[in-house]
This record gives sequence, C-alpha cells and structure tokens, in this order.
Amino acid sequence: MAQGNHTDLLRQFGLARNPFVDRTAEKTSLDPVSLYVHSDLHGFTPSETTYIFFGRRGSGKTTIRLSMQKAYAQHNESVRASGVSRGHFIVDLSRPGHLTACLRTFQESTGCTDDNWDASFADNWTSADMVDCMMSYAMTQLVAKVTDSKSATAQDMLPAPVLASLLSSLYSAPDSAETVRGLTVGVSAHQKLERLSALLRTLGYEGLAVFGDCFDEVVLLDPVQYPGAIKVFAREVCRNDLLNFGRMHFFFPDSRLALDLNTDKTLKEARFDRHFVRDLTWSRHQLEELAERRFLAAQLEAQRRAAAGAGHAEARKDGGAGLANADVSSVAGGKTYTFADLFQAVRVEDFSSYLSKLSTPRELMIMMTEMMGRMEAHPEGGLTAQDMEISVTKALEQAV
Ligand SMILES: Nc1ncnc2c1ncn2[C@@H]1O[C@H](COP(=O)(O)OP(=O)(O)OP(=O)(O)O)[C@@H](O)[C@H]1O
Ligand SMILES: [Mg+2]
Repeated sequence: MAQGNHTDLLRQFGLARNPFVDRTAEKTSLDPVSLYVHSDLHGFTPSETTYIFFGRRGSGKTTIRLSMQKAYAQHNESVRASGVSRGHFIVDLSRPGHLTACLRTFQESTGCTDDNWDASFADNWTSADMVDCMMSYAMTQLVAKVTDSKSATAQDMLPAPVLASLLSSLYSAPDSAETVRGLTVGVSAHQKLERLSALLRTLGYEGLAVFGDCFDEVVLLDPVQYPGAIKVFAREVCRNDLLNFGRMHFFFPDSRLALDLNTDKTLKEARFDRHFVRDLTWSRHQLEELAERRFLAAQLEAQRRAAAGAGHAEARKDGGAGLANADVSSVAGGKTYTFADLFQAVRVEDFSSYLSKLSTPRELMIMMTEMMGRMEAHPEGGLTAQDMEISVTKALEQAV
C-alpha cells in the first residue's frame, strides 16, 4: 500500500495515508502527534546526564536518539544565535563508516586478522580506545571546519597555526613520537575526555556530547560474524570512568542480559545506578497507544489538507510540527476515529491478545500494514483469526 495512495479503507477512516508504513527511524520524520514519548523522556533537554538504552532491533532506539539530537540542535542554535557560545560539540559515533574505519585501524595496529578478530579484540580493546574514536571524530570535524575557507566558523574560530599549537598541547611532553603516532592523547579514558573537552571549551564550545547508535551495523561488530565483539565493545563503553563524564548517549542493539552486562564485575564498573539506564521494552498498552497516536495523526493530516484546500502543499510541509498535544481534538473541528473504531471494522474477537504477541514498534508497524492490506482485500467486512495469525507471524519474521 503506497503512501498517499487513497484507498477505500483510508478514505473510510479519513486517513491521509497509511500511518504504519515506515520501518526505520532514519527514513521517518515523526510529527509530535505520531511520536510516542516514554514517560521518563518527556521534556528531554540537553543535560549532564549519561543515557544508556538497550533494545532489540526495531525497539525504537534510533527514534529516541534522533529526538535527543534534535533537542541538542535546537539548544545549539539558540545559544549561537544569542552569541553565548558555540553550543555543545556533538560527536556522532553513528555516522556511517566512522567506527568501521576506527576499528580497521585498530585491527591493523594490533596486527590481527578477521579470523582472530573476536579473540584479539577481547584481549586488546579498552575504553581508552573507545575515547580515541571520539577524539578522531572531533579532530576530523575541527580540522575540516578550520580549513574550510568558505565557512564563517573558520574565520571567527582560530587561525590554523593557533589550532595546530592547541592540538599539540593535547599531547604531554613525555609522550614519545611513537605514542603520539598511535593517537595517544592522555592515558585513561577520562583523561582523554578531559583534554578533548578543554580544547573544545577553548574553541568556544560549551563542551562535548557523544551519541553512539547502530553498533550492529559496524562491520567489525557484526553480531553474526563476530558474536563476541559487540559484547566486548559494550563492556568497554559501560565503565564509569567513561560514563561518568556525562552527556554520553549510547544505544545498544540488545538487552543487557544478551550482551553479558549483568555480571557483578560489569555492574561494579559501569555504576549503572548513577546513570539513566533503560531496557527498551514495550507493553501491549504502550504499543496500542503508539498505534493510536499514529492513526490519529494521519487523520489530522487529512483534515489539515482538506482545510488548506488548494494550499494543500503548504499544509503538508508543516507536517503538524506546530501542533501541541492539547490541540489534537480541535484541529479543523473534524471528527476523528479512534483506533477502536478501526477494530470494530475488523471484528476479531480479541485484538489485544494479538497485540500482546508483539514486542517492538517495528513489529507493530508490519502487523498493522499487513492487517490493513487484508482489510482492503475484504471490503465486505471482517478479518478472520487466521488473517490475524498471519499478520502477527509476518511481523515477527520480518522485523529483525
Ligand atoms: N516512540 C515511537 N513513536 C512512534 N513510532 C516509533 C517510536 N519508536 C519507534 N517507532 C517506529 O518504529 C520503527 C522502528 O524504530 P527505530 O528505527 O527507532 O528502531 P531501532 O531500535 O533503531 O531499530 P534498529 O535496531 O533496526 O536500528 C520506525 O518506523 C519508527 O518510526
Ligand atoms: Mg536504529
């Protein structure tokens, strides 16, 4: 069912589009009505807190990361506009290719091959190496900014020679050429972070904020090819030495248990009790509310478009961005259907019990799309229990 394709079912419920077609956060832009915000993340604003999320594929990690990054972008924009500072310098470890490049370099410098990678990584990788990845990201960005003659930043930042001397001040005098070549800035993870952050403050930033996500897409952390690597990687991130620095935002592609992080040793080193740590699991009620929000948002969008009439392209551009939760019922004064109305049309006995077989938003989206397709195919009414079983099975199979 293509988006924007007006089928009878969509028309019947006043929907501008199928609200359940998307599968990944990277390709989706959610308006405030469609977005389900977990209660402990309401009103998120940049703070010193370190956030760590654990969640299976499709559990909504990237959705949370993107909305946190948006909050940082807004903060940065406002402090820049008022000339207070440059805002927080964002190290985005989920930028495609960055971690893969870092790990390839590490692989070369430790002289190991793809064949012994799992074991060798476990023996050699430390949280300080993790911080070197943040460091190399920051340096690459800073050098690009300073050497970009067209950018305003380059002109009012620092002349290249001054930056060069600042960068060299990161290295302490006793560092041998060898260690400098090995990108050793400071010794411990914390010391490295302190130095990077001091440099950033000298350059007019408030400090450093780090985001890490999509680790299972990093070639050398692929959990199928190297089942041990992602666990070692997670273990080295989850050390208080690093987490305690603050403004760290990490999203791991599995539960703490599956990543072997529930051991006494890890718990002692990570001090999860001092940080915001969450296993991203979804109850049936939460998934139902998520579906309900999306269902409503697609109706409101249709009403806005209708109200805008010929100016419909404009209404679309807004995408509901300015719509506060309180406005929901009054938009265009139109009638809206509840999610329950949709299931009246399905006439399956116990819809809830099917929902309770799902555990992530991605599974929900697949099931809903499949169901809506089947409703289209049987306009005369009703879905059978078998239709529901098949929709659930598809969701569970395809969501991984
Ligand atoms: N809080 C939410 N509100 C509304 N929709 C959501 C929410 N969380 C996730 N979704 C939707 O569910 C789908 C999967 O979400 P997302 O891509 O964030 O999951 P993920 O955990 O990052 O998955 P992966 O492990 O594959 O990277 C997307 O289509 C997204 O729009
Ligand atoms: Mg993701």
